[in-house]
Amino acid sequence: MDKLRVGFIGTGRISDLHALEYLSNPRAQIVAICDINPEYSQPRAAAWKVPSDRVFTDYHDLLALPEVDLVEILLPHHLHRQATIDAAAAGKHISLQKPMALTVVEADEMIAAARQARVIFKVFENFIFIHPFNAPKH
Ligand SMILES: NC(=O)c1ccc[n+]([C@@H]2O[C@H](COP(=O)([O-])OP(=O)(O)OC[C@H]3O[C@@H](n4cnc5c(N)ncnc54)[C@H](O)[C@@H]3O)[C@@H](O)[C@H]2O)c1
Repeated sequence: MDKLRVGFIGTGRISDLHALEYLSNPRAQIVAICDINPEYSQPRAAAWKVPSDRVFTDYHDLLALPEVDLVEILLPHHLHRQATIDAAAAGKHISLQKPMALTVVEADEMIAAARQARVIFKVFENFIFIHPFNAPKH
């Protein structure tokens, strides 16, 4: 694979930060995006040069694209479980924003789905590196 082809599921506030690295990396390309609200996805499609026929309101349509290798799941928390399970079932590698899930049971289901589908599943936990998390435990 010479280029990692990514689909964004959820193009709200945090998507702009996720897009930065893909846009600046010649080995990556944002090939499709999805948001239930086109007011969020349309301007980003234009800015990120995503063709209009690759802008969706139903993420299942994005998951059906063979050219998507990886999905960035940037959805509200209550949708993380189902979107992750659906992406794994579609054979997509997954980058998911924190918090991973609403419950530990959900988290276990998501890990199991990724394992079964043999896809890479990463949770974006940037705050794990900030001082309070790294402070000595008492
Ligand atoms: N790591 C961090 O520091 C950090 C910072 C901000 C947000 N986040 C996380 O990122 C995720 C997204 O946060 P945000 O601030 O971008 O939220 P947001 O509300 O701005 O964006 C979420 C987007 O999802 C869309 N959406 C909702 N349901 C959908 C569906 N069924 N299909 C497709 N799109 C749908 C909404 O229209 C919205 O545009 C959350 O998990 C949040 O906790 C992490």
